[in-house]
Amino acid sequence: MSQQTTRTFTLNTGDKIPAVGLGTWQSKPNEVKHAVEAALRRGYRHIDTALAYGNEREVGDGIKASGVPREEIWITTKLDNPWHKRVPEGLASSLESLQTDYIDLYLMHWPSSTDPDDLKKHYPDWDYVDTWREMQKLVGTGKVRNIGVSNFGITHLERLLNDPSCKIVPAVNQVELHPCNPSPKLLEYNKSKGIHTTAYSCLGSTDSPLYKNDSLQNIAKAKGKTPQQVLLHWGLQRGTSVIPKSVSKERIDANFDLDGWELTDEEMKQLSSFTERFKVCDGAFLPDGVKVFLGDDE
Ligand SMILES: NC(=O)c1ccc[n+]([C@@H]2O[C@H](COP(=O)([O-])OP(=O)(O)OC[C@H]3O[C@@H](n4cnc5c(N)ncnc54)[C@H](OP(=O)(O)O)[C@@H]3O)[C@@H](O)[C@H]2O)c1
Repeated sequence: MSQQTTRTFTLNTGDKIPAVGLGTWQSKPNEVKHAVEAALRRGYRHIDTALAYGNEREVGDGIKASGVPREEIWITTKLDNPWHKRVPEGLASSLESLQTDYIDLYLMHWPSSTDPDDLKKHYPDWDYVDTWREMQKLVGTGKVRNIGVSNFGITHLERLLNDPSCKIVPAVNQVELHPCNPSPKLLEYNKSKGIHTTAYSCLGSTDSPLYKNDSLQNIAKAKGKTPQQVLLHWGLQRGTSVIPKSVSKERIDANFDLDGWELTDEEMKQLSSFTERFKVCDGAFLPDGVKVFLGDDE
């Protein structure tokens, strides 16, 4: 029977990312520290944050408060869009806030090099391929163990991987994945390039519309599990790591109650056959003219 909470996925660098992590986006001040501490005490060993979330200091405080040694914890954080021309500075800021010497996984948050002086504009002379060239320089400094990308579609990855400056294949592509945005082609593409996929908004995010779905409700009822646990298993059984966010101790615990059961092939198929579509992060906030999402999978 499947053991998900201690499971890891081996990245193209040989490092092992824990399959289940705690998300921290939209966790309010004074909530994140307790959430991180509760998660680590419960057994989580993977925390996902970002410079853009403005909560790295509290995440660092939560890690300290948990008493779990730093080397047992996987920390993912992300370079913010207006920092693309200042990669070492962005990393230094995250390290300082998180109160750590290194990041396990450093992601480019979006393929969008935003001008910090005008957040509605893209740099005319710089894009994500340039940013990746700079991020590659971090590997070997000891400050970053793995580098990866987020919100990259197939077209972004194709351009990046085919550029002569690309020497390192991203270890991870972190993208939105749930039954109403399953992106099977992107998942397959990532796999074909040796890129691990992490599923964000894996529960459908705040006020998730997923819970109303009858198939999901029926599967959860039949298995004696919560809809959230079923959604997390669906992600895990597709070979993605999952990073559910919660600031409630009960829900943090429940979201980690994933061992000793599995979804059947038929249940997986049902959950992969939803026809309704929605995206939590559609990139609407990105500068004009930046099309990050070109369709379901590209
Ligand atoms: N790379 C990116 O661009 C990107 C974008 C979005 C998200 N992310 C990452 O992915 C993480 C997860 O995505 P997300 O935060 O959008 O959404 P999510 O994890 O899909 O859902 C979080 C929401 O579900 C609620 N929830 C959690 N567990 C629950 C349970 N067992 N029962 C009922 N409700 C529950 C949470 O409320 P409570 O907190 O009140 O429990 C919160 O409102 C983020 O936190 C972030 O770390 C990355």
